[in-house]
Amino acid sequence: MSSPTVPPGHREVAQLDLESVDLTDLGYFEDGPPHELFARMRTEAPVRWNPSADGVGFWSLTRAEDIIAVSRDPETFSSETGGVWARPDTIAPLEFTRNLLMFKDAPEHTKYRKIIQRAFLPRTVTRLEDEIRDIVRGRLATLAGKTESDLVAEIAVPVPLTVISRLLGSPDDDIDRLMQWTEQLGSGVTHNEDRTQVLGEMGQYFAELVARQRGGDRETLADALFNAEVDGKTLNEIEIALFFGILVFAGNDTTRSTFAGGMQALIENPDQLDLLRREPQRIPNAIEEILRWASPLNFFARTATRDTTIGGVDIAAGERIIMWYTAGNRDSAMIPNAEVFDITRDKPTHIAFGGGGPHFCLGAHLARRELTVLLEEVPPRLHDLAINGPVTHLRSHWANSLTSLPVSHRPVSG
Ligand code: HEM
Repeated sequence: MSSPTVPPGHREVAQLDLESVDLTDLGYFEDGPPHELFARMRTEAPVRWNPSADGVGFWSLTRAEDIIAVSRDPETFSSETGGVWARPDTIAPLEFTRNLLMFKDAPEHTKYRKIIQRAFLPRTVTRLEDEIRDIVRGRLATLAGKTESDLVAEIAVPVPLTVISRLLGSPDDDIDRLMQWTEQLGSGVTHNEDRTQVLGEMGQYFAELVARQRGGDRETLADALFNAEVDGKTLNEIEIALFFGILVFAGNDTTRSTFAGGMQALIENPDQLDLLRREPQRIPNAIEEILRWASPLNFFARTATRDTTIGGVDIAAGERIIMWYTAGNRDSAMIPNAEVFDITRDKPTHIAFGGGGPHFCLGAHLARRELTVLLEEVPPRLHDLAINGPVTHLRSHWANSLTSLPVSHRPVSG
């Protein structure tokens, strides 16, 4: 089995024996997703059996068409049977993680999703816009007088974290704690380590938080959840705490990585950054292209519930399937010239929020709203942006995330 301690270079990718590639080897993700390798897989082996060192292999999908088909067929491709990460017991035993929304199948999934969906309707999210703008402006104010900053640490990390914590009613003083938990869970997914204890701590924290919010004078998300019913029964504090936990985990790193990856792409394509500053009406389209390009979650998994085929390849009941969104998002069969970052595209299609179907990202409106405000506020106030140090990536096959984006710029204006 190939085991690259460093990511394979251009020549090595062309010579790699695809049969031996194990994408759970984090060496492939040292510099971000292995786009060249994914390109070979899309052409030569779009539905490919991935052997892995621990003997638990999986099918790798790299074509958008196959990922979309699997996402939209939850009866054949279950989230509940084997979970949504590379291995069934990633971060905690399946019997625990099955309490989380993304691990449920219909009919349970449909009932629970309906409850939380209300909190994320476009009109509810639009109401948050002023608060998001204040948070972004507050972060820009901390850069006053500076001509160098790290866009990850100073903007990309704190903005979504603060937005989520306000949405949940967490005090700002607890933000570091939420951040630590998110990182511990993320690294648990990447390294397949147990995080049952972290989930327990989060559960206890959120149970106390929702209890404090009950019956207050401000209408909170916790109130909305307390008033909701599943099968005629209201949710208990543990179920609400789980919803809170999932939102912190799902809504934090993803938006952060999209903004950071988008800013990197814009700075590396200065004509497009200038265009966006001059023509802010392009922001909605630019966001879709950034989502496609930065694609912050590399994959989610499913398990086949019966013998089936994907792209003409036989899949046996019980086998796991990993949908590489990052690879599908560079598939020119879905979008022409997929290898080019171009905010002027007419219809920038992507599968960054999933391939459609019942689990499609619940936070998509919120993420788009946050990204809109970020693009409306940051580029017009940070001029002469240039990358002035090493851009570093999280070593993860799951999260496609920058850990540092050092830049120079003129002092914040406006
Ligand atoms: C750019 C930002 C984001 C990206 C790229 C993203 C991506 C995704 C993806 C790929 C899925 C799985 C889709 C599937 O299995 O078909 C998902 C599910 C989910 N996302 Fe997001 N997400 C983002 C932001 C957010 C935010 C801000 C929240 C909430 C605060 C959120 C909450 C959720 C939830 C609750 C689910 C599970 C939905 C279900 O299983 O029914 N996400 N997201």
